[in-house]
Amino acid sequence: RSQPPVVWHWIPFLGSTISYGKDPVGFFRTCRERYGNCFTFILLGKRITVALGERGNDFVLGGKHTTFVAEDVYAPLTTPVFGTGVIYDCPNDKLMEQKKFFKASFTAQKLASYVHTIADEVKGYITAELPSSGSACHEWLTLSVPKTFSEITLLTASHSLQGVRVRDSLTKDYAQTLVDLDHGFTPLHWIIPGLPLPSYWRRDAAHARMSRFYQQLIHERRSHGNLEDHQDIITDLMQQQYRDGTCVPDHEIAHLMIAVLMAGQHTSASSLSWSMLHIAQCPDIQEALYQEQVEHCGGSEGFLGALRYEDLRKLTVLDSVIRETLRLHPPIHSIMRKARSSIPVPATLASPSIATLDSIATAFVVPKGDIVLASPMVSQLDPTIWVDPERWDPYRWHDEEGMASAARKKYDETDKIDFGFGLVSKGTSSPYLPFGAGKHRCIGEQFAYLQIGTIIATLLRHMEFRLEGAFPKPDFTSMMVVPMTCSLMYRLRRT
Ligand code: HEM
Repeated sequence: RSQPPVVWHWIPFLGSTISYGKDPVGFFRTCRERYGNCFTFILLGKRITVALGERGNDFVLGGKHTTFVAEDVYAPLTTPVFGTGVIYDCPNDKLMEQKKFFKASFTAQKLASYVHTIADEVKGYITAELPSSGSACHEWLTLSVPKTFSEITLLTASHSLQGVRVRDSLTKDYAQTLVDLDHGFTPLHWIIPGLPLPSYWRRDAAHARMSRFYQQLIHERRSHGNLEDHQDIITDLMQQQYRDGTCVPDHEIAHLMIAVLMAGQHTSASSLSWSMLHIAQCPDIQEALYQEQVEHCGGSEGFLGALRYEDLRKLTVLDSVIRETLRLHPPIHSIMRKARSSIPVPATLASPSIATLDSIATAFVVPKGDIVLASPMVSQLDPTIWVDPERWDPYRWHDEEGMASAARKKYDETDKIDFGFGLVSKGTSSPYLPFGAGKHRCIGEQFAYLQIGTIIATLLRHMEFRLEGAFPKPDFTSMMVVPMTCSLMYRLRRT
C-alpha cells in the first residue's frame, strides 16, 4: 500500500529541515492544508511521518510501545546527559518501574510540604536578587525573561525535590556544570550524536561530574544512617526496590536525579515565563489572581496568610492561567517515536472529512524505520476546536463557549477536568495534551502545576508586573519552546 505523501523539497538530505526548525507549528499547518493530517518530511536525511489532530495524537501516543518506540528516538539525546540504566537507556518495563518510584515523592502530603519550601525560595530570591526595598521600592524596575524565571525554577525544584544541599551545590559549585549539560541537550546533539566538538566533550565531562556528585551524596547519607532527616526524592529512591527485589543502584539514583532536573527545568521555566508575560500584559487577570488569594488565603488587616496546599487548590483563576498558558505555549511541540514495524494509517486519520468510513479502512502505511511525530500543539491551536485559539484567555476554561461545542463534548467525554491543581487530560485522543499521554505521559504534571502556581502566587503577593513593548515571539531553536529574551517591569505591590 502507498506511503504518506512526502513534503516537497529542493535538496534531498536537507529536506524540510529549515522550515521545521524555524517554526515547526507553522510548517505543520502549511503542510496540513496541502497534504492532510498525515505526511512525511525529511529532517537531515531522516524520514519523519507526522500525524496531526486528535486522531494523530491518538495514533502516535496510543500506539503500542513495542511498535512505536520512544527510546529508539530519544536515547541518543538523553543517555549522554542523564546517564546509563535509566529512562530511555533501559527496557520500557524498567522505565515504567522507575516512573512508579516517583509516585512516592508526589503524594498529596509530599506536595503539600513542597509549597512552603518553594514559597520561601521565591521570597529569598525577591530579597536577594530583585531590588525591591529602600528608595527603589515603588519604582518600576526591569527583570530579564526567561533568565529570572529559569533561576527561580532551578532553586525551587532542586530544593523541594532534592534537598538544600543539592540546591546550594547546583547554584554555586555546579552552576557551570549545569550549563555544560544544557549545551549538550540541543537538536544538534540529538540529530548528530557523538560529533568531535567541544560542546560534546564538555557535556560528557559535566555528566560524569554530576553523576559523581550525586553518588557521593547518596553514599554519605547511607553511611550516616540518617535517611529520615532528608525527606526528598533521593531518600525515596534509596528505599525503593525493583520487582525482582533488587535495590535501585546508586548510579541509577544519580542518573534519575539528573533526568528529573533536566526534564523539569526547561519545561517548567518556559511555562512560568510565558505565564508571567501574559499576566504582566493583562492587569485585570493580575488583579483577579491577587484578589483570589485575599479571598482564600486568610490573614488579617491586609496581610495574606502563608500559602498552603489546600488554599492553592482553591485558586481557580491561577489554575486556569497555567492551563491556558500550556495550551498556547506547550514547551514540547513534537513528540516522537520510531516505528519498529510497518504500520497502517487509518483512513479516518488521514482525511477527517471521511470520518464515517469503516474505522479499519487504511489510507497509507508508515514504513518500518520512520520516526512518527504527534504535535498536540497543533490541536491545541486548532480553530475548529477552540474559539479564537490564538488568544490567551484563562476564562475559557470556566466557560462552555471557550471551545466549539462538538469538540467540547468530545473533550468532556475523554478528559477528566479537575480544577484542583494539575489534573488535565487523560485520553490519548484529547486535543489538549501538554503533558503527553499514554505510556510515556509526564510524571511531573502535578509537581509542575504546584511549583509554577506557588511561584506565581508568591510573586504576585509581593509585586506587580507590567509588559512594555511587544509580546516576545517563541524561540524554537532549543529543545523546548521558550520566549525570546525580553524584559518585564516590576515593582513592589502597594497594599
Ligand atoms: C515526559 C511535558 C514537567 C519529568 C513528558 C512528556 C511531555 C512532558 C509532553 C511526554 C514526552 C513523550 O511522550 O515523548 C512536560 C511539561 C512540564 C513537565 C509541559 C512542565 C510544565 C516535568 C517535571 C518532571 C518531568 C517537573 C520531573 C519532576 C518527565 C519525565 C518524562 C516526561 C521523566 C518521561 C516519561 C516517559 O517517557 O515515560 N513531559 N513535563 N516533567 N516528563 Fe515532563
